[in-house]
Amino acid sequence: MPYTVVVGLQWGDEGKGKIVDVMAGAYAWVVRFQGGANAGHTVQVGDETYIFHLIPSGLLHPDVQVGIGPGVVVDPEVLLQELEMLRQRGIEVQGRFWVDPRSTLVLPYHKLQDAFEEEKRGGIGTTRRGIGPAYRDRAQRVALRVGDLFLPESERNHRLERAMAWNEELLACRYGKPPLPREEVRGSLEAFAEQIRPHVRDVVHAVHEVDRKGGEILLEGAQGAGLDVTFGTYPFVTSSHTLAGGATVGAGVPPHRITKVVGIFKAYVTRVGRGPFPTEVSGEDESWLRERGQEYGATTGRPRRCGWLDLPFLRYMIALNGVTDLVLTKLDVLAGRDPIPVGMAYRVGHQTWTHPPLGEVDLTQVEVEYTPWPGFSEQEAVALEGGAEAYVQALEEHLGLPVAVVSTGPRRRDLKVRRSTIKIVV
Ligand code: IMP
Repeated sequence: MPYTVVVGLQWGDEGKGKIVDVMAGAYAWVVRFQGGANAGHTVQVGDETYIFHLIPSGLLHPDVQVGIGPGVVVDPEVLLQELEMLRQRGIEVQGRFWVDPRSTLVLPYHKLQDAFEEEKRGGIGTTRRGIGPAYRDRAQRVALRVGDLFLPESERNHRLERAMAWNEELLACRYGKPPLPREEVRGSLEAFAEQIRPHVRDVVHAVHEVDRKGGEILLEGAQGAGLDVTFGTYPFVTSSHTLAGGATVGAGVPPHRITKVVGIFKAYVTRVGRGPFPTEVSGEDESWLRERGQEYGATTGRPRRCGWLDLPFLRYMIALNGVTDLVLTKLDVLAGRDPIPVGMAYRVGHQTWTHPPLGEVDLTQVEVEYTPWPGFSEQEAVALEGGAEAYVQALEEHLGLPVAVVSTGPRRRDLKVRRSTIKIVV
């Protein structure tokens, strides 16, 4: 079982942070493969709550090595803050936290451009963390990568100047804004290079070696499948490949070495930012879900849009990711609601879809067919018995896959392992 990929099957915020945390102890390495500081992975250990934006949540297990893979865009400011937070809380990072030199740097220009772009075109509701502009620079081949900071001086300066000049022109021409003081940008990158130097390592080679020796590696995705730049609800998506396939190019993993794909989904659905959301609710249902689920963004604090479970969308994402095992999170949030509406199919005109070809079906045009499913009590949810277990079994039937783990609260021990196909270390 060399590589396991963990992905979200909705629009992010499915609870991946907690699940990666409880799975990580069974792996030698955990590697993030895409996205950047737009992610916010929350992990609660005892009374302590940790929010990670860049560093894989596996770091909380002392024997696990963690890496930021080449497919990630790294914001130096956020990374240093995160390392400092861990140091202050007594968590050792030396010798176990690594950044691949091929990962792309998010420069201050990128964050400004992200914000200006949001204002200019009405916005798709990005996190304003500079993610789109950083990936754009990578595709344009003017990006600065972590490894560039350690090149001989003349080459390093050449690449930095090129990246700065490109971004200054864009700031001036598209947004009519003045350049950032070059000395400041250069200075902060030099300070970052100094601090990050002991953590820079070829993460890809390291995990290949682990694999060769029979070790196991967990590949941690961020955001959710619905935000994939190609297969998500374009253009209301992020700028990276959030699907399991993204792990191959984002972490340098040969596809045939991935033997398990764990798909995480919440018992209902949330979304941050704009974009189609067929099962979205409003009014009392929205406030009920938001308050019970505490649905506020871990990165931006924005209230999340809320809706009922959407089985057609889930089926599509399960197929695209090749999910082998499901993990259901936040089941407890639905306790006390009876019956629970579940989106079973999409209707477009006279046509009904249970497995929609989302390339053809316009999600803003679909009507959702709901079925009321019997509810369950708090007690049943926490113990995963009676109505709650029946609810999970019904999901397995409709999705055609086993639900291996059910999470019923924020703490590590708030979960039930239903099938031993996923190893959990709490
Ligand atoms: P960006 O990734 O900041 O460019 O934002 C693009 C879209 O993805 C926006 O709708 C964001 O709200 C959404 N998004 C990005 N990261 C996350 C995440 O970690 N959780 C949920 N939504 C996210």
